[in-house]
Amino acid sequence: MQSSLRSLAHGATYPITQHLYTDPQDGSLLDVVHDLSAWHGRGEELRRLFDARLASWGPLDRSGVWRYRELVLPHVAPQHIVTRGEGNTNLYPANADLQRYTGLAALQLKHEGENPTGSFKDRGMTTGVTRAREIGATAVICASTGNTSASMTSFARMAGVQPLILFPYGKVAVGKVSQSLAYGAVSIQVRGDFDAALALVRDAAERLPVYLLNSVNPFRLEGQKSIIIEMLHQRGWRVPDWIVVPGGNLGNTSAFGKALLELREVGLIERLPRVAVIQAEGASPFAAAFRREFDHLEPMSAETVATAIRIGNPANYAKAVRTVLETEGWVTTVTDQEIMDAKAQVDLAGIGCEPASGASVAGARKLVAEGVISPAAEVVCVLTGHVLKDPQAVIDYHSAQMPAITPQFTNPMHTIEGHLEELMAFLPGATVSA
Ligand code: F0G
Repeated sequence: MQSSLRSLAHGATYPITQHLYTDPQDGSLLDVVHDLSAWHGRGEELRRLFDARLASWGPLDRSGVWRYRELVLPHVAPQHIVTRGEGNTNLYPANADLQRYTGLAALQLKHEGENPTGSFKDRGMTTGVTRAREIGATAVICASTGNTSASMTSFARMAGVQPLILFPYGKVAVGKVSQSLAYGAVSIQVRGDFDAALALVRDAAERLPVYLLNSVNPFRLEGQKSIIIEMLHQRGWRVPDWIVVPGGNLGNTSAFGKALLELREVGLIERLPRVAVIQAEGASPFAAAFRREFDHLEPMSAETVATAIRIGNPANYAKAVRTVLETEGWVTTVTDQEIMDAKAQVDLAGIGCEPASGASVAGARKLVAEGVISPAAEVVCVLTGHVLKDPQAVIDYHSAQMPAITPQFTNPMHTIEGHLEELMAFLPGATVSA
């Protein structure tokens, strides 16, 4: 099975063995492309193969990424693979409250916060760090709003490679900072935003002996395709009408479109779902470009309570445009208020997610209200990160301490002296037995 690197802009191809992040001619994004022709028309065989692996304890079969290795990175030699059994995340049916909140009767939540380090990034890091090993890198680097860095550090440690991470100053959620320190990254705050930190690491990766693991690295996105592959496997390959995902640097958006086109190519699915990308209003250059029919990307200075997606100059713009056009998708924005209230609804369902993930549910709700998504549609919202990633946001929301947000679903903390009688106030109508 042949794989290669192909320029998105003009189709030039390069050998998979060549160490490239972007096209050497003009800096445009590269795809890792696989010659899947040997699998054409063999969808049924692939289904049986993937089903059979569910009964295996083999580390690659157990990984929700490498289980689908024929479609992910078929060329990789098993001895290079660094895996934590990532993926295998739940696809929850929405409860009655979430159905009512969104206006969707057939809503499911794909919870990528259930990955080993608590975000979807593990799916791209198992492939990214595997690639780092394959090419013999000794140090890896990324700029991050916190999840990429936590994930990269964990996988780099497992691989015995040095992790170096750059954070936007003071804008990373505490759960994520602690993970990076705990796993042992060289952790550096840059006096600037994520976009500035990303520009710096891209420059560093060209001129210093460090391997770049931001999502401009196409090997990351090959792993992230497995969110879609695994979700469809869980649904018995029944295609939903819509997939709704938060958009920041637009790596997931890009990976989703590529996955869907490849799944259709090999006959695992017959039609494409529509992909809706949701951005925070204060960090929404992709939504603005969508409204202008993708004439060009206008970078902006980003601000949002959902720090994970506080990004104004998304690196994967061109690939994300392809996803939206190919799937007849949609892009919209939600306010910080809508993000936090939707997150609270997901939390109250007992599922929990971080603020950026709330954007997908808030966005689905908005698109139903606007008539873009039908209330009868089958919809999968992707939750990208775990509820414990940003504990400060939870406490601030429930104690009504968030600037400019009036929380709609607060659950305040109570304090008592410690007498049984005091509990009566919390159990209306109860009597104390002898
Ligand atoms: N949700 C969460 C929880 C994230 O951490 C990110 C990105 C996104 C959504 C957006 O995904 O970039 O693929 O559009 N976090 C990156 C990081 C930027 O550094 O952890 P995207």
